[in-house]
Amino acid sequence: MNPNPGVWQIQRWYWRQLLRAAPGTVVLLLLAQVAGAGVRGIELWGLQRLLDALWQGGATGPALLFPLLLIGSALAVSHGAGVAQGLLRARLSYRASFSLRDQVLTRVGSLRLEIHEHPEFHDRLERAQRAIPHLAQALDQLSSAVEQVITFAAYLAYSGSVHWSLPVAFLIGALPSVVQRLVAGAHYTELVREQTPGHRRLAYIGKVLSDPGYRHELWLFRLGPELRDQWQRLSVRLRRERLRHINRHQALFFAANFGAVAATLWSLWQAIHGVSAGLVSLGGLVAGAEVLYRSGSQSQRLVMALGNLHRHLLEVGFLYAFLHQEWPSRETRPAAEVELRAPVREIRFEGVSFTYPGAARPALRELTFTLRAGERVALVGPNGAGKSTLVALLLGLYEPTQGRILINGRDARAIPPSERWRHCSAIFQDFERYELTLAENLLLPERPVAIEAVLRQSGLERHMANLPDGLNTQLGRLWNGRELSLGQWQAVAIARALARPASLLVLDEPTSALDPRTEVEVYERVLAATREALVVMVSHRMGVCRLADRVLVLEGGRLVEEGTHEQLLRHGA
Ligand SMILES: Nc1ncnc2c1ncn2[C@@H]1O[C@H](COP(=O)(O)OP(=O)(O)OP(=O)(O)O)[C@@H](O)[C@H]1O
Ligand SMILES: [Mg+2]
Repeated sequence: MNPNPGVWQIQRWYWRQLLRAAPGTVVLLLLAQVAGAGVRGIELWGLQRLLDALWQGGATGPALLFPLLLIGSALAVSHGAGVAQGLLRARLSYRASFSLRDQVLTRVGSLRLEIHEHPEFHDRLERAQRAIPHLAQALDQLSSAVEQVITFAAYLAYSGSVHWSLPVAFLIGALPSVVQRLVAGAHYTELVREQTPGHRRLAYIGKVLSDPGYRHELWLFRLGPELRDQWQRLSVRLRRERLRHINRHQALFFAANFGAVAATLWSLWQAIHGVSAGLVSLGGLVAGAEVLYRSGSQSQRLVMALGNLHRHLLEVGFLYAFLHQEWPSRETRPAAEVELRAPVREIRFEGVSFTYPGAARPALRELTFTLRAGERVALVGPNGAGKSTLVALLLGLYEPTQGRILINGRDARAIPPSERWRHCSAIFQDFERYELTLAENLLLPERPVAIEAVLRQSGLERHMANLPDGLNTQLGRLWNGRELSLGQWQAVAIARALARPASLLVLDEPTSALDPRTEVEVYERVLAATREALVVMVSHRMGVCRLADRVLVLEGGRLVEEGTHEQLLRHGA
């Protein structure tokens, strides 16, 4: 699929999306559109009949009734069609926006983690998300364009009946404006593309300035004014660039309008000529002069509507491009190919290296080791040694850039990650705090383990007395819930990891925010509760190594030592 589509490709896709979101509404909208525009002709015809009747038979009589009824009903239908269009457009754009937002979120969720390391990905995602409101705007412009096309076609047909050259003149007169709008649309999308990193930065600074999580540092380090200043400067720059673009293209559009002005003058000249030659009736002249006079501006309105539609469709194209871009997906293998039905019995790293996308140096280099079920393995090393990266590889969140990982003797690449994750649990160093209820925070799985035991093992039990609704207590402050201390949130993360049966449990500094007494208790209880599993513990504290059967020491991404705690102590001594 071409991720940089042309406008025809986009509009075909756009229609498919609308039809998928609400097929019935699309049909009704088209009917309302055609009815609304079609009655204009009837209205005009009624007007002509009325004027001619007046001219021929005086001001009274049943001859006037029919044209009056015609005009009245045409006006009522046109008004009704306008209201219906508004309702149908709103319904359709809500549905289509919802469906596309959903598709974007699903797509993001299906991609591999490495993708987030690429700023280009974030730019494309930003553009796709900013394009969603353009679905509705394109629809509005589409409605307006359909109406303008029908009206213009009627005007052309009428002007053609006065003189053959008039429709030709109106069409040729509109050409410069059409070209100008197409060029303006293409320049506009280029500008949107260039401005995306700026908009992302603006959103980021806005988040830092408004998110309560940053408040303490912002105040204490007086970062607020500096960041606000940056935000204002960037906002002004982006706005100026956009205004410059609008000014330039509006001026060019004004110049291009002269084609339509010339066509209008030509049509008036022909009308005058027609009257003096006695070719046009008075009714025809009054109704017709209006049409001829307005055809030029009508052509400009049409060009404007088409130009806007073109611009909105190009913007919708960013959504198309994002959804069709071939990003590396999480599930590279069909689920049926190799399933990890059995729990993890053995994980073997063979010459595994890993480099973050865009990084100059590998974070892990040539690691070879084997871990087995029932083992307690401590992973130690200085900051930046690669411990959390190794953990992410163990869990299948990243794939090695070199070497391979075998799980129960099978190449891990052949196992769909979602299969693998059914057997894994973890407490991450940067664990999350979900502002949901405690029960929702534990993300209770399909096969829940005994919840009381989980609360005891995680050390959460002693804090339950402070939670008024027990497991149903809302946590955090966003919805007036109970705020927890850092250590209590960490206990929730530990409980979340223990709330699912897993044959591989990874603890990446799970107790860094716990007091020393609680830490030892938590470790002892967690290890006692997971005897069958392979447990990998990352820690900076030597006390944890004493609990481990084996210690792996990482430095600069390499495995520099391996052995029991005693062996390492002897070696170091
Ligand atoms: N998302 C990332 N993109 C690029 N480089 C990264 C990323 N995360 C970590 N790194 C780099 O990879 C190396 C290993 O980082 P890692 O987080 O694995 O260290 P660690 O041993 O867990 O350290 P700590 O004890 O501080 O938690 C570091 O040099 C770091 O700069
Ligand atoms: Mg780490």
